[in-house]
Amino acid sequence: MDYYLIKGGRKLKGEVKISGAKNAALPIIVASLLADGETVLSNVPDLKDIRTIIKVIEYLGAETDFDAGKNTLKIKVKNIKNGEMPYDLVKTMRASVYVMGPLLARLGEADVSLPGGCAIGERPVDIHLSGFEAMGAVIELEHGNIKARAKKMKPCEFTMRQVSVGATANLIMGAVLTSGKTVFENCAMEPDIVDLGEFLIKMGADIKGLGTERIVIEGVKKLNPVEYSIMPDRIEAGTFILAGAITRGEVKIKSCIPEHIKSLTDILEESGFEISTGKNWVEIKDGKKVTGFLTKTLPYPGFPTDLQAPLMSLATTIPGISVIIETIFENRFTHAAELRRMGANITIEGNSAITKGVKKLSSAPVMMSDLRAGAALVVAALAAEGETEIRRIYHSDRGYEKLTEKLSALGADIKRVEGGTF
Ligand code: UD1
Repeated sequence: MDYYLIKGGRKLKGEVKISGAKNAALPIIVASLLADGETVLSNVPDLKDIRTIIKVIEYLGAETDFDAGKNTLKIKVKNIKNGEMPYDLVKTMRASVYVMGPLLARLGEADVSLPGGCAIGERPVDIHLSGFEAMGAVIELEHGNIKARAKKMKPCEFTMRQVSVGATANLIMGAVLTSGKTVFENCAMEPDIVDLGEFLIKMGADIKGLGTERIVIEGVKKLNPVEYSIMPDRIEAGTFILAGAITRGEVKIKSCIPEHIKSLTDILEESGFEISTGKNWVEIKDGKKVTGFLTKTLPYPGFPTDLQAPLMSLATTIPGISVIIETIFENRFTHAAELRRMGANITIEGNSAITKGVKKLSSAPVMMSDLRAGAALVVAALAAEGETEIRRIYHSDRGYEKLTEKLSALGADIKRVEGGTF
């Protein structure tokens, strides 16, 4: 298995272009199943998760042509079919549950494997399922599979018991072709949901309230295929800002939406870093004096759980105490133990991580346990003394496009080594 070798201590300097957002592209690719004809998506990042979801929609009858070099994906839809997807395909990525919305909307039936737990917690899909039940679907669980059947999808008013990005996306896709008025309350307001909604509106859907807690959908008879460009990835943007911050460098993030990462740049500014922003760029520079901070992860527009791990890496190098509280996932501190191996001073108390800044992190062999924990290790290694070896980098391949190339262009000393023995 490939691994990274990172020699830390270099200040990152320069500009980096942000790729298309994985978490917007995933539901948008699946939503293309809602219209017959050819959908053309641009700014699609070349990532393992994207390649998996492409296989998923091919399995359901779509024809695809992904030009990874140009980040363009063509999707031809003629006769989609329901079918139990091989568990091997589904188990690597929870987002495959997204096919339920379009399949129920178009065929009135959907069979998918029930996603298992994962490294960051149990991650149930009960909100997706109770939403579809409110829309008239009958749901059975059999041999680890979800079997959903709806003679006719009906409009409804449904309040999600907890804010869920996945359930909001899935239910919107399930409702756009349902005749009548469907109202969802307590919706996720993440930019990824807004991007999905705008794609659907371009296809002809009638959706109001995107980016708010209440989304109202008037069902339309038919959607048409369109061309659409995926928004920039705010989590990738935030990770590069944190890479700039931890090396006390000067990094300009281009092709991003500064508003999407304001919760992060606000924390960094308060901590003492210098932040400047323009229409589609953000720049970070070291401040005269940086100090510890207190933050907690929250649904958008709050601080995103997906940046909690790399923010913790930065916290371990900031003089004084910082506290990060995780409120979204119950088990999202696996990176803390690996960071301790690199000399970090972190105490976990329940869902709080308390860090005391150390003068220098030092290199150690470490292992990624999930995608964003992996980002934390890369960020930490950039600032650590010596050469850090990071294993299980297939996790970061799921969500960071051209990571070594982009970091090298900023002056990092990072190598991807092929084929280690473990
Ligand atoms: C999405 C993102 C992920 C991000 C997360 C939170 C994608 C592909 N993934 O994941 O990167 O970390 O949002 O911003 O977009 N929950 C339930 N029942 C459900 C659904 C969710 O209890 O039916 C809980 C989850 O366990 C979690 C919380 O709700 O504690 C939020 O999860 P959710 O927003 O659904 O995350 P995902 O959509 O899986």
